[in-house]
Amino acid sequence: MRSTTAIIDISKLKSNYNILRKLAPKAALMAIVKANAYGHGLIECSTALQNMGADYFGVAFVSEGIKLREAGIAKPILVLVTPNESELEAYCKHNLEIIANSIEILTKLNSLADEYQKKINTHLFINTGMNRDGIRPEEAFQFYNKAVKLKNINFIGICTHFTSSDEKDTSFTLHQIELFNNVLEDFNSKGIKFRYIHAANSAAIINYPQSVYNMIRPGIALYGYDLSETKKFPFEPILTLKTRVNRILELNAGESVGYNRKFIAQTKTRICTIPIGYGDGFPYSVNGSTECIINGKKYPLIGTICMDQSIVNIGFDPVQSGDEVILIGSDGLNSISAIEIAYQNSTIPYDILTSLQERVPRLYVENM
Ligand SMILES: Cc1ncc(COP(=O)(O)O)c(C=O)c1O
Repeated sequence: MRSTTAIIDISKLKSNYNILRKLAPKAALMAIVKANAYGHGLIECSTALQNMGADYFGVAFVSEGIKLREAGIAKPILVLVTPNESELEAYCKHNLEIIANSIEILTKLNSLADEYQKKINTHLFINTGMNRDGIRPEEAFQFYNKAVKLKNINFIGICTHFTSSDEKDTSFTLHQIELFNNVLEDFNSKGIKFRYIHAANSAAIINYPQSVYNMIRPGIALYGYDLSETKKFPFEPILTLKTRVNRILELNAGESVGYNRKFIAQTKTRICTIPIGYGDGFPYSVNGSTECIINGKKYPLIGTICMDQSIVNIGFDPVQSGDEVILIGSDGLNSISAIEIAYQNSTIPYDILTSLQERVPRLYVENM
């Protein structure tokens, strides 16, 4: 078995889930589990979340929805990305829910649903500024009026998505909330009601309680990352990425390390190899700011990250082959989070987590 492992603590997932439940006690919770539950394992995390009482699941693609159904997830599943035509049958076969973006797609789905004698639960997506999904607020009613005539399309929800709920500047999110509220009022005044009203991603649940409505859609917070400015709540990362020291080598002053010789030793030192690289999803980096923890102490990764291995400068500390190396996680007073690694590599923690490849075995534990 490989030394490199991602350990996923299900009790921390539960604790993060409970924090979100407390923040929105009256709202239903749609757990966002797309992209392999942000790299943490689609089936394992979703099964655990279903057992905890999650009301809904949010995925990006029908393929993810089908995997959930095949694994025994019985709760409603909303597919968040607009499907192509070849994916429509899956909504009928696997009882998936769709976001309403296009009359053309809904019309095709309506005919297929006829064959399957199914009603398709649909969420009217209002584009309040993301300009990726949904219908413009001023076109929402007209769109709904056309779509609602399709007899197998059942409007169960209305939703929007925020662009900037994790930012200090609140103005655009407040503007999006106002646009969404105007649409809700308009439908309300026409006597049209939706069972589920949802907008809030993790940062909005924390920063904008008025955007909770009656369903929340947390992703990153479930996995333990609070991207709000205030960091008021004790979310804990559920993933620890570990490996073990492989080879130890001595390096003389002037000698280089790795491809393109990006590190040159200034003095005599010792280095060790660790069996993890960008082929595992660990970010390729040349800036030398990424660190790891060995025996409770931080050491820099030097040179470029290779596909399967990386190299650490351990100096003359008593590090031995087989010692545990933490790349994401904590050991005593030292910790390294996916947020830190992301910022060092000019990306976001979502990218670091979802990039972790299948060849990194996941180990699921409780109360680590
Ligand atoms: C439509 C939608 N809702 C909710 C989420 C969850 O966002 P977060 O992970 O920031 O909580 C996402 C994530 O990208 C999304 O695309």
